This record gives sequence, structure tokens and C-alpha cells, in this order.
Amino acid sequence: MKREFIVSKIEDLEQVAQAITEYFGEFEVYALHGEMGSGKTTFMRALGKLLKVNEEVSSPTYSLVNEYSINNSIMRIFHFDLFRLKSIEELTDIGFEEYLYAPDVYVFIEWWEMAKELIEKTDHILVRFEKTDENTRKIILEEKRIP
Ligand SMILES: Nc1ncnc2c1ncn2[C@@H]1O[C@H](COP(=O)(O)OP(=O)(O)OP(=O)(O)O)[C@@H](O)[C@H]1O
Ligand SMILES: [Mg+2]
Repeated sequence: MKREFIVSKIEDLEQVAQAITEYFGEFEVYALHGEMGSGKTTFMRALGKLLKVNEEVSSPTYSLVNEYSINNSIMRIFHFDLFRLKSIEELTDIGFEEYLYAPDVYVFIEWWEMAKELIEKTDHILVRFEKTDENTRKIILEEKRIP
């Protein structure tokens, strides 16, 4: 099943964030796919706002991962950005695979391709960001289930 959104202003990302929360409970892993500047971090900011997370959402480019807690929920969000990952060993060092299967967490991954093999071993939502022009994005949500 696929869902598609055309987002022509940042505020419209709220609808996409809402759609993502509809997968909560069923899916814990979200692979954010799209070129630089396609809006992955901007989307995470919209999701953080919707879920009233405890901290400001920022790009975890240098730290590889940011953690947020969701208001009125035991669930936590781990927001990865693997762009600067140097090696697969580094993923092992930060315990990446454990996050994928941890209870009470949702995991969102920018530059998920860096951990493609691990992520494709588990059910996830593929979130594709396509830049259609400077201010417009097409965002496609797709369920990926292990057969
Ligand atoms: N409709 C839109 N949705 C999302 N971002 C938009 C939109 N229109 C314009 N933008 C702008 O595009 C930029 C997206 O940058 P952002 O950092 O979110 O991209 P990214 O995919 O996380 O890039 P990177 O791979 O470098 O981390 C922001 O400057 C944002 O303001
Ligand atoms: Mg980013």
C-alpha cells in the first residue's frame, strides 16, 4: 500500500506527520529516502511538533543520532542521520541494530541506504522525498513487510 502527498508549503508537512502516526503500533522503523535538501530533517521537525517532543528537532549529522521523548507517551523517537557514517563497524559500535528491535521506540533514519541490509531485514515504512521544485515536495509512504 502506498500513500502520496504533495507538499507545497512547510505547514502542509503536518498532514504527512499525521499519516506517519497512523502507522505507529504497527511499524517502528521509518527509512527516510531523498537527496540533500529534499526535506527529511524538515519533516522530522514537523513530526516533532505534532508529537510535542521534549526537545527541538535538529539534524543529527554529527552525532549520528538524536533522541526525543513524546509528550504523554512512553514511546521515544530515535532520529538517525547516517550521512557521515564511515563504516558499517561504526553502526555496530553505536548499537544500531538494537535500536531497530528495541521496545517502546520509533526509529527514523536519514540516509538509511548506509544501513540498507539491516533495515531491509525488518518491517519498515519507506518514506520517499522527491523535490519537484524549490518549494514543492512529493512524499510517498510505502509499507515494506518481510514476506
Ligand atoms: N515543501 C517543502 N518540504 C520540505 N522542505 C522544504 C519544502 N519547501 C522548501 N523546503 C526547504 O528545503 C530544505 C530542506 O532541507 P532539509 O535539511 O530538511 O533536507 P534534508 O533532506 O534533511 O537534507 P540532508 O540530506 O542534507 O540532511 C529546507 O531549507 C526547507 O525549508
Ligand atoms: Mg537532514
